[in-house]
Amino acid sequence: MSKTTDELFKNVIAHAKEYGFVFQSSEIYDGLSAVYDYGQFGAELKNNIKTYWWKAMVQMNQNIVGIDSAIFMHPKIWEASGHVGGFSDPMIDNKVTKKRYRADQLIEDKIEDLLNIAFKEVSLAVNKKYPDLQNNLEALIDINAVRDYIKNPPVGKAINLDFAADAAKDTYKAIQEHPSAKKSFSLFKEFTDALLAEDLDELKSLIAKYEINDPNSKEKPDWTEVRQFNLMFSTQMGAIADDADKVYLRPETAQGIFVNYLNVQKSGRMKIPFGIAQIGKAFRNEVIARQFIIRMREFEQMEMQFFVRPGTEMEWYNHWKQARLKWHLALGTDEAKYRYHDHTKLAHYANAAVDIEYDFPFGFKEVEGIHSRTDFDLSQHQQFSGKKMQYFDPELGEDGKPYGNYIPYVIETSIGLDRMFLLTMINAYEEEDLSTEDKQDSRTVLHLHPCLAPVKAAIFPLTKKDGLPEKAREIMEALQIDFNLQYEEKDAIGKRYRRQDAIGTPFCITVDHQTLEDNTVTLRHRDSMEQERVPADQLDKIIGDLVSW
Ligand code: GAP
Repeated sequence: MSKTTDELFKNVIAHAKEYGFVFQSSEIYDGLSAVYDYGQFGAELKNNIKTYWWKAMVQMNQNIVGIDSAIFMHPKIWEASGHVGGFSDPMIDNKVTKKRYRADQLIEDKIEDLLNIAFKEVSLAVNKKYPDLQNNLEALIDINAVRDYIKNPPVGKAINLDFAADAAKDTYKAIQEHPSAKKSFSLFKEFTDALLAEDLDELKSLIAKYEINDPNSKEKPDWTEVRQFNLMFSTQMGAIADDADKVYLRPETAQGIFVNYLNVQKSGRMKIPFGIAQIGKAFRNEVIARQFIIRMREFEQMEMQFFVRPGTEMEWYNHWKQARLKWHLALGTDEAKYRYHDHTKLAHYANAAVDIEYDFPFGFKEVEGIHSRTDFDLSQHQQFSGKKMQYFDPELGEDGKPYGNYIPYVIETSIGLDRMFLLTMINAYEEEDLSTEDKQDSRTVLHLHPCLAPVKAAIFPLTKKDGLPEKAREIMEALQIDFNLQYEEKDAIGKRYRRQDAIGTPFCITVDHQTLEDNTVTLRHRDSMEQERVPADQLDKIIGDLVSW
């Protein structure tokens, strides 16, 4: 991670805390690892993301309905789904420090470390050859970054395209030939082979061969064997602690949909193809916590299972693959920030799978998965419950006969709400330089899409006297049934604007003496910072039009 993106990420995390978006859970007790609380603005933003998803999936599709199933489910469900047997990560313990790690993560970090060493050393050498690019070589490593760099060269230095491209080419070549990079590539190859073969002994021997240390200790580690560690949390249901009463906290919301699919289909008289959507908490005992709210132990998913006729699944898979990316892009995010990652190694139940990834400051990471899950889950539930999971399809096929009974195939779309939240914050965050020739100035602003903004408008009386607060409150009361608003009368207007910019409020409304005369107010726009005079009785419509979905 380059210094600037590292700093940006740290600043976003600090901002999220300072302005009431995300807090560490149980902070006064030194926190609980990989568990977070959403503050007053975080909860609003999260709700708005949920609403945006629910509207797009349920409200806009007549053949998709939403449910809310329980977190506790019959323990056999997790046997049928494969989670009891197979939902695990390879784990290794340091016998000296008693610390536990994910073996695959330790190896991935080593691969990255080796590459970083190569990168740093090569940067120094190439910098000598291209002195004009000093300190900017990192930007040249990625081809998109080369483009950005050329579009926005550092102030005072014009960079020419051929020159920058040559430097990038040289850098790539030199990195590939560097001994650390070579070691990193061979470790990567051996590691992926071991993962594909699910060979735990090989993972252990790679950790020894590449002398991977404990990241939290300088002492030489004494590693245990690599063992599979199940990620499901379990607890006891009822008063008697007996293994028979063991229940799990669901690790995904999808199974609540599968086991209810016939209830919904029959009670809603749904016809294939149809979908069932749900938003809810999921729990995974992740061995290591990473990157703020990217990997949590308690998180939220927004999932939709789309039930289709066998044989049509690829058509629907492609449909949802496109539709879900469109949903992301409709928020105005730069398309270059997203990419698809098609899976080549498929889970045993899937016949196609793709991730939608976002370019976070720490690299591209999965935000959403679209999976063609065949009839695996429903067939498993039919087998484990002994209940028929078939759907009767009355429609006529090409042979003129009804399709009849079959177990539907399923296309799943599954997005992590917390990852979407982080993506939204990072994408919106800007430290904007507003300096002019005479004055240094800056602001931190969240350019949130107005429909996602936690507060839609802030209302300020210019001063605390002359009846302005009363007038401002009167205007607020007329609007607050429709919009989440904030009233502020403390500090100078400029300071109040900055506080609202920092939480992404798209509009600020200022009530002044002229308002008392002609009932007009100043409406200030967050992104352009432009101000206009508008009649107070038109605010409802003006704001409504701009923050509507
Ligand atoms: N039902 C399919 C399923 O659960 P998944 O890829 O394991 O698939 C789907 O999870 C999404 O849930 C991921 O794309 C990610 O956004 C989110 N997610 C998974 N584990 C998470 C965690 N530990 N913390 C936060 N989000 C997570």
